[in-house]
Amino acid sequence: NELYAVVGHPISHSKSPRIHSVFASQTGEPVEYTAIQAPLDGFAETVHRFFRKGGKGLNVTVPFKEQAWQLADQRADRAEKAGAANTLYLNDQGLLVADNTDGQGLVQDLSVNHGVQLKNARILILGAGGAVRGVLGPLLAQEPASLTIANRTEAKANALAALFADEAGTTQLSACGFDEPDQPFDVVINGTSASLQGDLPPLNAGIISADTVVYDMMYSLQTTTFNQWALDNGAVRVVDGLGMLVEQAAESFRIWRGVRPETIPVIEMLRND
Ligand code: ATR
Repeated sequence: NELYAVVGHPISHSKSPRIHSVFASQTGEPVEYTAIQAPLDGFAETVHRFFRKGGKGLNVTVPFKEQAWQLADQRADRAEKAGAANTLYLNDQGLLVADNTDGQGLVQDLSVNHGVQLKNARILILGAGGAVRGVLGPLLAQEPASLTIANRTEAKANALAALFADEAGTTQLSACGFDEPDQPFDVVINGTSASLQGDLPPLNAGIISADTVVYDMMYSLQTTTFNQWALDNGAVRVVDGLGMLVEQAAESFRIWRGVRPETIPVIEMLRND
């Protein structure tokens, strides 16, 4: 078997080994996938050791995605602007290549699994940290009518909008604080980590209508705090990030193995765990 792993800190709760094991048996690919906890000050060393020992590919998760991006000799186009990488592998010349499949995972889950039309949609995305930066490029590539970045610290939203201005095309790309938007959006995506502190961004309920699709990049067994807020304020369709998790994994698997696994059965399996 060929060796793959996810590296993070902490890592024990990662679902990636489970997801990739199912992908492997489903596709018949000789993939063995483990979890590695790197010391907080030892990410680069951990990566180098893994590939020195013949490892084929790594997923990278919190808090190492930016370091993975920096460590790489080469970056895929879609990873370049993301400033973070979740997928590493060696190319034919033995160079370390970084990619970022998070944005593709989000877009795939929204548009394919949930049938949400992103082209010409008015999208609001909440947050301006690494998670949001990682998905802006793939979202803009879907050519929404508008993409509004709202963040607690408005300056960070402004900086992200400026960074992606050259990828906006015909999309109206803008930034603001949480209190500014007050009209319904077609799609509202929560990319903040507010719920980790049990917080809710102070938003106007007017951003939600019965036609709004609400997507929380977080996932949990119960309805997430953010999605519950949306339901309480008139949303009918709320989706959490489990599908994104499986889709980003499938895209990494495709990069490494050249085969794209089927994701729906895996999403359903995890949902019923
Ligand atoms: P991540 O990789 O999850 O994006 P991050 O880069 O630290 O992590 O970014 C966290 C995001 O969640 C930021 O947009 C942050 O807002 P600020 O830029 O103002 O810090 C947002 N966030 C974190 N805690 C929050 C809270 N309690 N309420 C609202 N937004 C919060």
